[in-house]
Amino acid sequence: MNMTIFDDEPALAVPSSLEGRRIAVLGGTGPQGRGLARRFALAGLDVLLGSRDGGRAQEMADELAAETGRPLVGLDNVSAAAEADVVLLVVPWDGHETLVKEIAHVVGGKVVVDCVNPLSFGKHGCSPILVSEGSAVEQAQMLLPDAVVVGAFNTISAVLLNDPQHPSVETDVLVVGNVRAATDMVQDLAGMIPGVRGVYAGKQFNAHQVEAFTANLISMNRRYKSHAGIRVTDI
Ligand SMILES: NC(=O)c1ccc[n+]([C@@H]2O[C@H](COP(=O)([O-])OP(=O)(O)OC[C@H]3O[C@@H](n4cnc5c(N)ncnc54)[C@H](OP(=O)(O)O)[C@@H]3O)[C@@H](O)[C@H]2O)c1
Repeated sequence: MNMTIFDDEPALAVPSSLEGRRIAVLGGTGPQGRGLARRFALAGLDVLLGSRDGGRAQEMADELAAETGRPLVGLDNVSAAAEADVVLLVVPWDGHETLVKEIAHVVGGKVVVDCVNPLSFGKHGCSPILVSEGSAVEQAQMLLPDAVVVGAFNTISAVLLNDPQHPSVETDVLVVGNVRAATDMVQDLAGMIPGVRGVYAGKQFNAHQVEAFTANLISMNRRYKSHAGIRVTDI
């Protein structure tokens, strides 16, 4: 289906790999999805915000539109995935498999960016969950054989993404995936957030370490009262 919702919006300076592409953020009502949607909207991208409840998505889209001065559209997750060219998964691990199965029929040929960290939170801290497929990214790719799944945005802080006092977020976003054109595009997407550098970090079989490392960052945040991120040196 063709959508014309953004047709009369001015195109801002978008890398050619992203030009004309609509970005869906599924789970966009949570802090991480909201923060990513906010930053992509501020960068001039066309953003569709997804939720299990289309009304809730529209409320958040309206809030972000008021904050960013950009039009965002809120839809239920499946509709947002169907209308977008690039689909971000930004839900808790508990909802990952179900959501991936729900969108399978609408993401063929698209890039799906998996931002989900399989983590468990206990009284002694946060630890990675061992995923039988290897990682969230590999689980998604197995369930979405017609899509290209890329892992990214696992370690960037929702607090900083949402904080107007931090126009720039000084961090690297590690990007994993098997298809060069797709990882290049997601690196460009990351780079649209001021301060962020997208860094290629290996194939899908390297996704587990990136997802799991978020548990280390959460431990750091608790100890140092911080919003820690990653910076890779000498590349
Ligand atoms: N928070 C961070 O700083 C951060 C940083 C890096 C990566 N991440 C990753 O980003 C993902 C989202 O994080 P978050 O803190 O934003 O999570 P969250 O607030 O717990 O959930 C995000 C949204 O997902 C939807 N959701 C909740 N449970 C769901 C389920 N069982 N099935 C489907 N949808 C569900 C909810 O939206 P609706 O009810 O509207 O559908 C919710 O607003 C996680 O995998 C996390 O590891 C988070």
